[in-house]
Amino acid sequence: MRVIIESSPEDVARRSARYIVDQIASKARYTSSPFVLGLPTGSTPLDTYRELIRLHRAGEVSFANVVTFNMDEYVGLPAGHEASYRTFMQRNFFDHVDIRPENINIPDGNAADLEHECADYERRIAEAGGIDLFMGGVGEDGHIAFNEPFSSLGSRTRVKTLTPDTRQANSRFFDGDADKVPHTAITVGVGTVLSAKRVMILATGLRKARAVRHAIEGGYNHQWTVSALQTHPCGIIVCDDDAAQELRVGTYRYFKAVEADNAGLR
Ligand code: GLP
Repeated sequence: MRVIIESSPEDVARRSARYIVDQIASKARYTSSPFVLGLPTGSTPLDTYRELIRLHRAGEVSFANVVTFNMDEYVGLPAGHEASYRTFMQRNFFDHVDIRPENINIPDGNAADLEHECADYERRIAEAGGIDLFMGGVGEDGHIAFNEPFSSLGSRTRVKTLTPDTRQANSRFFDGDADKVPHTAITVGVGTVLSAKRVMILATGLRKARAVRHAIEGGYNHQWTVSALQTHPCGIIVCDDDAAQELRVGTYRYFKAVEADNAGLR
């Protein structure tokens, strides 16, 4: 696992956006096939989206040959609902870059047959050639996408029941009222995330420190689904100092030293 510890959320955003831009450019050097990018919602990636938009406006990246797959979507929110992940993505990213609408994939939480929608989502990912890079955030309880504690680490896209903790944490997007947060969501599975060629998880702030500790120093465990990243050949965590707060001093120094060496190689 690679762990990049930056000093601030802004640096996490710059670093992660740069990584995405570099990966898109690097694939374009050897193939005209689209770059397939997995994307999260949440407050953590907001700065990364802002930075990607800035880089796009500066002419440093085009999304014209990028296909995206979002991680998750609430079940049953009316189309255009303020808190739906589709609304979030349009507002915070897609409306500001040159991505083709037909290249955007977000699970349909209003599909008549949700089971079919989940299976079809996996089929669409496979048809696109698999995900080149999955960016994700992490919940305070260590969940990735909506893979709540005790989700199968081999899971694929399916409907999950959200825990009361997650509904409480996400109530800030629903007028602070946890009762308004849907009880279920469609989410890619842990296995879906791990099938991506690269996975980059972002974590900022003290609230995420426990999850980051479990992801890096804890055991591979379905209670902290983010820990499954330990089995990925190219798993990266980009976090800030606050989110690294609970790491042991030795762990912190180790990853700082590795990245300082990496910087020398660039
Ligand atoms: C939700 C999303 C996750 C996200 C998590 C953390 O539960 N389904 O994909 O990682 O929230 O969100 P935030 O970045 O706002 O802390």
